[in-house]
Amino acid sequence: MIKKIIIALWLAIPALSLAAGDHVKLDSVDIDLSDKASLQRGARTFINYCLSCHSAGYMRYNRMGRDLGISDELVGSNLLFATDKVGDLMKTVMPKEVALKAFGTVPPDLTLVTRSRGPEWFYTYMRSFYRDESTESGWNNTLFPSVAMPHVLYSWQGEQRAIFKEHDGIQVFDRFEVGSAGSMSEKDFNGTMRDLTNFMVYLGEPAKLVRYRIGVYVIIFLLIFLFITYLLKKEFWKDIH
Ligand code: HEC
Repeated sequence: MIKKIIIALWLAIPALSLAAGDHVKLDSVDIDLSDKASLQRGARTFINYCLSCHSAGYMRYNRMGRDLGISDELVGSNLLFATDKVGDLMKTVMPKEVALKAFGTVPPDLTLVTRSRGPEWFYTYMRSFYRDESTESGWNNTLFPSVAMPHVLYSWQGEQRAIFKEHDGIQVFDRFEVGSAGSMSEKDFNGTMRDLTNFMVYLGEPAKLVRYRIGVYVIIFLLIFLFITYLLKKEFWKDIH
């Protein structure tokens, strides 16, 4: 009897996950934290287009500048919109009450979003907004149905329409169709979203850059040590042979 219940529960797992909206395929994204130029481009997009609503409240502007190779002067003259001190945390200027009124919810802090959701989820989400006249903002997202966030980058990506197909009685996302083109080609927009995802991964764990750097030194040390050990072994075995 117990065996039967376990088997029945086991068989129900795929149906449960389908009901939870997990059927949207996530696109893979090439993360490379050693690509400083990509991280800098991602930072610029984030600060210009996301920080007006979202915070990245665990990061300071000058720490980000130091990690990404941007001087305090450049950070000060190009990247400070929400504050005037480079030592400040990256907090949004939008008051919570205003956000609640405008969106019905407060845009979440994004510092850790690629760790909670995953880089693939973030990359796919940013490219999955579509026109939907039935929602308040006029936008919707296949990965986050009824999302309160408008498509803030639509002038770059353009408008897309989502085509759904019926699958076992539920509407399942099938594909996108281009509505009107944006200022970027699909390839450029994907590249820009890849840079943004790369930056968000850095933001979630800045110490990764330090770890990578230390890792390189450790490997170099081990290689030199291997060479010395080899010489030592030769020396020891010289008299035995
Ligand atoms: C006009 C305000 C606004 C701007 C600008 C904005 N967002 Fe949002 N965003 C929201 C709101 C509101 C939500 C909450 C959506 C919900 O819960 O339905 C949200 C949710 C999100 C989420 C989902 C977080 C989660 O884990 O649930 C991500 C990721 C996100 N935004 C990324 C971005 C990025 C990246 C940018 C910049 C390109 C950006 N947003 C710009 C308002 C905004």
